[in-house]
Amino acid sequence: MVSVAIMGHGVVGSGVAEILLTHKQKLFASLGEEIHIKKVLDLREFPDSPIADRFTKDFEEIINDREIRVVAEVMGGLNPAYDFVKRCLKAGKSVVTSNKELVAAHGAELLEIAGEENVNFLFEASVGGGIPIIRPMNQCLVANNVNEIAGILNGTTNFILTKMIEDGMQFEDALKLAQDLGFAERNPAADIEGHDACRKICILASLAYGKHVYPDAVHTEGITGITLEDVKYAEKFGYVIKLIGKVKKLEGGKIDIITAPMLVPTTSQLANIDNEFNGIMVRGDCTDDVVFYGKGAGKLPTASAVVADIVDCCYHLKARRHVFWADGNGENIIDYKDSECAMYLRVSGSDAVSKAKAVFGEVTSITGKGGARAAVITQSLRYGDFLEKAEELKAQGAEILSAIRVGDL
Ligand code: HSE
Repeated sequence: MVSVAIMGHGVVGSGVAEILLTHKQKLFASLGEEIHIKKVLDLREFPDSPIADRFTKDFEEIINDREIRVVAEVMGGLNPAYDFVKRCLKAGKSVVTSNKELVAAHGAELLEIAGEENVNFLFEASVGGGIPIIRPMNQCLVANNVNEIAGILNGTTNFILTKMIEDGMQFEDALKLAQDLGFAERNPAADIEGHDACRKICILASLAYGKHVYPDAVHTEGITGITLEDVKYAEKFGYVIKLIGKVKKLEGGKIDIITAPMLVPTTSQLANIDNEFNGIMVRGDCTDDVVFYGKGAGKLPTASAVVADIVDCCYHLKARRHVFWADGNGENIIDYKDSECAMYLRVSGSDAVSKAKAVFGEVTSITGKGGARAAVITQSLRYGDFLEKAEELKAQGAEILSAIRVGDL
């Protein structure tokens, strides 16, 4: 029997307990040993839980219990998760987590501590919810140089955009629905402003390129400025709008990394990934494109990945899973203004399309009813040059109502 503790009994934590209890026989058959939930840490009371007697409000009861070999951190946030996880690792306990904020902020340090203590620190659930992506990248794709990763990495924003595209639903109503369904972060600003997706592409980039990529070093835009009008113009051009986390290895070895809404061609494998589903494309130099698809948020999908990591730690109580990247200082990342892509612009003002042509050169355009508004798509250009040309366009009297990158996906 292996004793484990679960820190946090929210959406994911309660799912982890539920799977460990309802899938006890299945997990026993796989591991050959029983996984016993010895403690659950939460400040709230859960008198109706079948394991109500194992709840504690005191972290010291977990850290001081030598029988507990594996701890699942599913509290979310940095405090107190960072301190608790570090202490568990230093006490010789393996830790698994779904906490992308923690891994994106402190992954390099926590992996190093796990190495020093000869225990495991696993975080499959931190990216893509129930989709296996960390282990496949770390093991199955290890023979590849990864040229690019692009993904829809946030279930909440993908749910919102899908409801806007398919049902014409307003942004706020779709967000409320995502919150009610348990997809959104405690503070949904992390979802809609792109920070959650940014943390996830940082984790994948760190894993792929061996150096920690900190979220502060990554240009991040959310979806709060996306309107139904943009969604409709995008459709007419043959695109859907998705929040994309993307990292590309450039010649010379630096990486181009960004999180932003993008127009995705309807022919792309990422275009039909809807609702709370996530999709991640990994382009290896040997495999070419490999695409991972599944539920990126929600109680049981995310808990499934946490439980898989618990089982892996139980298998490897005396051995290390090789997951590692070194600390990074951002020197391997190019300035986002040096990144190149085509741009979609929604404009108003008299002769806005002619003015856009004069400034940007060849553009594809659609003029709205009555001719007062239009949308154009430019050729690919350096983002810094785009910003300068956008100012020129404004100086000529055109109003830019929105500007969205066109993804080469
Ligand atoms: N809020 C996150 C999402 C949860 O919507 O994708 C899963 O990480």
